[in-house]
Amino acid sequence: PQGDLKVAPTPTTWVRALPTPRHGARLVLVPKLLIATTNPGKIAELRGLLEGCGWDVVTPADIGIAIDVEEDGETYHDNARIKALAGVQASGLVTLADDSGIEIQAMGGEPGVRSARFLRPDATYEERFAEIERQLAGKSLAERAARFVAVIAVAEPRKGEVRFAEGEIRGIISPEPRGEHGFGYDPIFWSPSQNATTAELPEHEKAIISHRARAIANARQILLEILNDYRDPDSTYSRAG
Ligand code: IMP
Repeated sequence: PQGDLKVAPTPTTWVRALPTPRHGARLVLVPKLLIATTNPGKIAELRGLLEGCGWDVVTPADIGIAIDVEEDGETYHDNARIKALAGVQASGLVTLADDSGIEIQAMGGEPGVRSARFLRPDATYEERFAEIERQLAGKSLAERAARFVAVIAVAEPRKGEVRFAEGEIRGIISPEPRGEHGFGYDPIFWSPSQNATTAELPEHEKAIISHRARAIANARQILLEILNDYRDPDSTYSRAG
């Protein structure tokens, strides 16, 4: 590629930016950002939330790799880091991974980091909702309080850095599952501010309030800093490549 940007070889895309009075037409670097998840619900949300972030967002399937890691960390941070580093190792790309879960007051914060495996790894969500309702029977509204938590890890291969961003949303466990949108525990997570479960909200409405939306809003700053460094011919990233 031509232009005034000299960067080290890295799997990238160059796009022609719209001409501006000061710079004219030019090529800008759009590096690939791998999102290290195979969960279709998360992929759809993350793609939407990352729109316009300046990166070319790709999934493991898009680039023909598989990321298979044991999510055996004790915390969301551990698991997000494990997944992001596995993505870097498999692809050499800057990698974003999300670890998330639902924490229920009356269950002492469970299932939390084990949300995806709650009850049994292959349990259906209907079975999980029934088990939660069994444990919440007769509990007060305050004990039905819950929160969704998301921790995003961004791993950068050249410096070997992992940085984190977090987000949460508070709600109440609904006794009846409701709604067709979203995924996972959305049908039983009732948001007082929306007077709806997060499964009743269309994607663009969940994207305003969700834990993942808030975590990604915080992660955008990290992505922007890496992007600026990648585009800067004098940056340590460019020299390291
Ligand atoms: P993990 O981050 O892959 O360990 O999975 C987190 C699990 O938490 C998901 O599989 C869901 O069961 C649950 N979860 C996380 N975020 C959401 C959400 O936005 N809606 C519903 N369930 C969620």
